[in-house]
Amino acid sequence: MFNFSKLGIPVIQAPMAGGINNPRLASEVSNGGGVGSFGFSYSTPQKISTDLVATKALTNGPINANFFVFSPVALPAQAVQEKALKALKNFPIEGEYAVSIPQAPFYPDIEEQLKPVWEHCPEVLTFHFGIPSPSIIARAHSLGISVGMTATSLKEATAVEKAGADFIVAQGIEAGGHRGIFNPDEADEKLTAIELTKQVVRRCSIPIVAAGAIMDGADIANALRSGAIAAQLGTAFLCCDESGATPAHKEYLLTHHSRGSTFTRGFSGRPARGINNEFIRLMESKIFLPFPIQNTLTASLRQLGVKTNNGEYQSLWAGQDYARTRNLSTKNLMLALKEELLIALG
Ligand SMILES: Cc1cc2nc3c(=O)[nH]c(=O)nc-3n(C[C@H](O)[C@H](O)[C@H](O)COP(=O)(O)O)c2cc1C
Repeated sequence: MFNFSKLGIPVIQAPMAGGINNPRLASEVSNGGGVGSFGFSYSTPQKISTDLVATKALTNGPINANFFVFSPVALPAQAVQEKALKALKNFPIEGEYAVSIPQAPFYPDIEEQLKPVWEHCPEVLTFHFGIPSPSIIARAHSLGISVGMTATSLKEATAVEKAGADFIVAQGIEAGGHRGIFNPDEADEKLTAIELTKQVVRRCSIPIVAAGAIMDGADIANALRSGAIAAQLGTAFLCCDESGATPAHKEYLLTHHSRGSTFTRGFSGRPARGINNEFIRLMESKIFLPFPIQNTLTASLRQLGVKTNNGEYQSLWAGQDYARTRNLSTKNLMLALKEELLIALG
């Protein structure tokens, strides 16, 4: 089982799908005493293999490979498809983009994605949106890989523990990116990371990693005081020199503070927190397809946003406290977090 207390600093750099994670970012975090992660959501086995090999060449420290647990999904009725298509047409953006209804398969085969994980054995394997099959958990354990899963409520945390996970990532409502809730159509308790951690500590006996708006060492100390063994920070790493966030994403994080962040299902079909922009506003009350079909449907528009450096049409995932994001090298951010944590812990 992965020993969090042996880390130089109890920090997991959050897995962040969408081109943000890369071997340089992950290895700098790992070399700085934390756990460097990859969000491999839609990645091909080849890409996963390349990233794991490249990172292992840069660090001997721990690495976390993270995957989405996709649920079976089908296209809705023709009338809904047409409304979802119409919703995405004629956005006021310069340049050409194409929208057409995606065809199955709508998401990658997790068994195929995991082959390079079994080969290269990162220290940690985590899952978002649900619980993987028992055989996946058993295989990881047989290879000495620790398994964690996101939970957004006590009910989900209890299910994660029962499934045999080694730790729980307690994701608060403040967290940036996709909400890990198992079923996004069920009522969401919207607990903060600290509230959830405190609830889970009382009822579960496996370690808890708190996630959501943890931006500095004092926040990490706060998470530890509430019972967490470590903190998972996403937004705090987005503006690091090594982060693959787009230039517009970094610019909005560092300067567009009055916009604030909000949840939208417009980009992917599942709720995710990002900086308010024109796309989110125009998608309010519009019809969208189920996750992850909507993600494929919006891909061409989002790619045009990136190509033309237009932040209004990119998914600018960010946690609630994104105004505190720092533009440092990953190495210096790790040093700063460590120093702040020591001060906060007295
Ligand atoms: C840009 C971005 C992408 C994310 N992608 C993933 C992902 O692929 N897998 C995952 O488990 N969590 C993902 N998350 C959520 C993080 O694991 C974590 O819950 C969140 O970053 C914590 O909140 P913070 O951003 O305020 O630190 C993402 C978060 C961000 C900001």
